[in-house]
Amino acid sequence: MRDVALKFQLNGKPVEIECEAEETLAEVLRNQLNLNGTKISCEVQVCGACTVLVNDLPVSACTYLAYEAQGKSVTTIEGLEKPDGTLHPIQQAFIDDFAFQCGFCTPGMIMSAKALLDENPTPSREEIIHHMDGNICRCTGYVPIVAAIERAAQTMSGGKK
Ligand code: FES
Ligand code: FES
Repeated sequence: MRDVALKFQLNGKPVEIECEAEETLAEVLRNQLNLNGTKISCEVQVCGACTVLVNDLPVSACTYLAYEAQGKSVTTIEGLEKPDGTLHPIQQAFIDDFAFQCGFCTPGMIMSAKALLDENPTPSREEIIHHMDGNICRCTGYVPIVAAIERAAQTMSGGKK
């Protein structure tokens, strides 16, 4: 018997599990729910690899305790693709702009970018750079990542800017 009975919405579907009080959302997603798209790297909320959305706002799942998600809506990278397999425009833009190499930072980058574009559909380059400064990439370099987010913004806003 674990400490906490936890119910929340995960990628639009209800989930009921039990977890330990000290388990992080990232641990529960990866170890209990088999959603390994959310990466764990620094574990101290500085790299952004573990970014997911809780009630549409970005959080670091490596330090966000799972029980804090009680009754909330959690979106992970696995929740962005449509049921027919069509990628989200941000996912597609990362491919089109070669905005990843090893890909370890990519799910967190995409979830942070989604939070930005949901709030500000037509950000300036400076606003993108400022918003993404909590997401670290160790191999690609940031130029294609910013370009991908600009491309996604254009696609999602129907080319308006
Ligand atoms: S693993 Fe969570 S911020 Fe780095
Ligand atoms: S693509 Fe390798 S860390 Fe970003």
